[in-house]
Amino acid sequence: MTANPTGTGPDDGSVKVTIDGKEVDARPGEWLIKVAQDHGVFIPRFCWHERMKPVGMCRMCLVEVEGQKGLPPACTTPVADGMVVNTQADHVAKAQDAVLEFLLINHPLDCPVCDRGGECPLQDQTLAFGPGESRFVEEKRHFEKPIPISDTVLLDRERCIQCGRCTRFAAEIAGDPLIDFGERSGEMQVITYPDEPFTSYFSGNTVQICPVGALTATPYRFKARPWDLATSETSCTTCSVGCRGALQSSSNRLVRLLGVDSEPVNQGWLCDKGRFGYEHVHSPNRLNRPMVRRGGALVEASWPEALDAAAEGLRRARDDHGPGSVALLGGARGTNEDAYVWARFAKGVLRTDHVDAQLGDGLPPEVVLGVPRATIPDCDRAAAIVLLAPDLKEELPVLFLRVRRAAEELGVPLVDVAARDHGLTRHAGVVIRHAPGGAGDVRDEIVDKVRDLVSGREGPVVVVLGRPSLAEPPDATVHAAAALAGLPDVRFLSALRRGNVHGALDLGLTPGFLPGRVTLEAGG
Ligand code: SF4
Ligand code: SF4
Ligand code: FES
Repeated sequence: MTANPTGTGPDDGSVKVTIDGKEVDARPGEWLIKVAQDHGVFIPRFCWHERMKPVGMCRMCLVEVEGQKGLPPACTTPVADGMVVNTQADHVAKAQDAVLEFLLINHPLDCPVCDRGGECPLQDQTLAFGPGESRFVEEKRHFEKPIPISDTVLLDRERCIQCGRCTRFAAEIAGDPLIDFGERSGEMQVITYPDEPFTSYFSGNTVQICPVGALTATPYRFKARPWDLATSETSCTTCSVGCRGALQSSSNRLVRLLGVDSEPVNQGWLCDKGRFGYEHVHSPNRLNRPMVRRGGALVEASWPEALDAAAEGLRRARDDHGPGSVALLGGARGTNEDAYVWARFAKGVLRTDHVDAQLGDGLPPEVVLGVPRATIPDCDRAAAIVLLAPDLKEELPVLFLRVRRAAEELGVPLVDVAARDHGLTRHAGVVIRHAPGGAGDVRDEIVDKVRDLVSGREGPVVVVLGRPSLAEPPDATVHAAAALAGLPDVRFLSALRRGNVHGALDLGLTPGFLPGRVTLEAGG
């Protein structure tokens, strides 16, 4: 039996497992810790993370499995039919208590001044599973604190419990193995390499998954206590991936964005651009009240004054020069409802079709709206993924993580069609290069290679489709996409840059269309 590294593998039957006297169904090879969690039994853990491979480093998840010697870690134990597990026995509790006592030997317990205090797995699990007091009276280890390991991440080494979540995330998920463990025993610590800071586009995820306050985010450090935070679940609008997040504020200021695990979108991860990009909201340079131009200068105005001035200007332009003299830009960072209102206002009230949400860096709307669509999870089960898009690591970073995982971990073949190498090139089995703007010239080669590659494989062909760069005209990409559209079960995953640009196009904020992907012609 092969253990399933993430507990999310194919469903090929089920097994019966008894956990604390309750019989449950599970997929063969699923990790015991996950099966227990899915059935309401929390086994304490520090190093295990649902989205990463287990390593069994912290020993916090020890349980009893009937017929097995000792107490195996639940995070590296695959379930098998007939397995009987006890997570509550006295000797299990004693082992968990002992692991916590060891972990706390060197932990500073500076909870009152630790950003993690109040939302700390070490605090919570010590309360639930740990000793009431320590027998350790010797000097704890001390380090200079904190040390910056990047512009946004600070490390307090003495708080680290060596769970390896951060180092594993960097290597396994982000593909940026820029942090590792150095030294041994009580001196063991997370290190960066000489002259190489932790310059990962995804560094903030390590702060979020660190189970103690060893890694903290520079923008959030000492800004709030967890119990003072107000939280709203939302989507990041920085790019069109639309990662799920929890936006938190304290004293009426945004202080933190945390990733929320959404299987169809971001699986819990955020890129640093999205995670730390909220600070502009409180910029003193931000326009936060209406201004109208009077006598050549912008002056503050009330909303009725500003709306009257806008209406007057629009009316004058339309009456003097016709409706086509007015253009309306924007909407790609708004909601679908915003885009709908803008489109109705432009096309129904002003009577102009000069609208745009892509701001000149996208693809023709009839292509984006007309091709069969793929979803992000389609990448996981694709026969092949074809990249005909901008550099995902730069433009749509969390989609880069998903495609990288599909290629690296799930074995989905990757076809890289671009003018130059980029973040995913080293994961591609087929690399097709063309001159900038020349994707159309290699379309026959692309189709032939993809056809060969997917022969005998199940699943759709997912084409990640977007304009590679502003310098490359959209026509070349469209020609290549049109050739691929002839392959069986091909679906296109839009890689347009701006957040919710797809929603804006769907709702008619583009020339030639009305809301609902209805063409102007068809809509009368
Ligand atoms: S810094 Fe945090 S995530 Fe990294 S090994 Fe230490 S405790 Fe684990
Ligand atoms: S990938 Fe895009 S949507 Fe996701 S966190 Fe980054 S900027 Fe935001
Ligand atoms: S959670 Fe199982 S060993 Fe750490």
